[in-house]
Amino acid sequence: MKTVLVTGGAGFIGSHTCVELLNAGYGIVVMDNFVNSSMQAVDAVKTITGKDFPFYECDMCDEAAFEKVFAENQIDAVIHFAGLKAVGESVQKPLEYYSNNLTGTFVLLRLMRKYGVHELVFSSSATVYGSHNPVPFREDMPIGGTTNPYGTTKVMIERILQDVCIADKEMRVALLRYFNPIGAHPSGLIGENPNGIPNNLMPYVARVAAGILPCLSVYGNDYDTPDGTGVRDYIHVCDLATGHIKALEKLDSIPGGCEIYNLGTGKGTSVLELVHAFEKACGHAVNYKIAPRRAGDIATCYADVSKAKNELGWVAKYDIDDMCRDSWNFIQHTKQN
Ligand code: UFG
Repeated sequence: MKTVLVTGGAGFIGSHTCVELLNAGYGIVVMDNFVNSSMQAVDAVKTITGKDFPFYECDMCDEAAFEKVFAENQIDAVIHFAGLKAVGESVQKPLEYYSNNLTGTFVLLRLMRKYGVHELVFSSSATVYGSHNPVPFREDMPIGGTTNPYGTTKVMIERILQDVCIADKEMRVALLRYFNPIGAHPSGLIGENPNGIPNNLMPYVARVAAGILPCLSVYGNDYDTPDGTGVRDYIHVCDLATGHIKALEKLDSIPGGCEIYNLGTGKGTSVLELVHAFEKACGHAVNYKIAPRRAGDIATCYADVSKAKNELGWVAKYDIDDMCRDSWNFIQHTKQN
């Protein structure tokens, strides 16, 4: 079975994907610089799966340190999660975002070329669809028009990877455009645990429900949506993780080139619908107030998921109640520890 290098493997999506890779029989080598994660997640992956693997605390922009990972392991494929990802912060720190996300990818691609590794799955985002496309978003729509440097790094890296595939016919790349990953592993041992005040809806709702934060601000109730609040395509992180396994399998079946897939459920859920689903999961009310719109937000975002279904044989199996149950379970575990 193949050995997969997972960059950013201690992060939210990375750690869940490590679990699915190990469960599917892959070997893994994990690296992370812990900028937004910790060793706890790496240990939890080992606990959940009962399997061990090499781990490197390493910054992907440090080429000498990163090269050791390739020199010391026989890597067959890479899943590239590592990157800075806070939308608001990226507006304040564009240089850090462009420099880190692009340089890290360049170093990775140089090392892949040097060590003869041709298979890559890249963590992209629905944010590449910008605000000009009608929903549901399809992979063949024009991308760009992003409203923040974080999103623009995703557009740029997608383009770079497509160019690399044109130049190197052996390269096989999957660009996975994630919609809104939430939920957690049912064990409660790994999940999304951002430092400081969360930017994203689900970790915020979970902290209000758990009594850690006093009140959720719902950013706008005057959008052109059924209840006026923003609509997103929330996907359980374990479903997202299995999508990566399917993408790796797909890459094994093609001679070369770049494939693009949306990973979502195809269903939109509003902020208030998510709050109410969470209230059902935790058994009590979640305190919220209506606040002004957040700059850069779009009204509605959900995926056309037919390409992943038809070509990867992948569909999300968890619904919004499952996602809320597992996020609630995770925050309770985190509070105890
Ligand atoms: N929201 C609130 N209150 C909050 C946080 C969010 O009402 O405290 C609302 C937002 O306005 C939006 C929805 O909840 O309507 C979802 O917001 P998130 O911040 O959770 O997610 P976004 O859709 O804004 O962004 C996410 C990722 C990005 C990614 C994008 C892709 O955070 O990294 O999806 O579409 F680029």
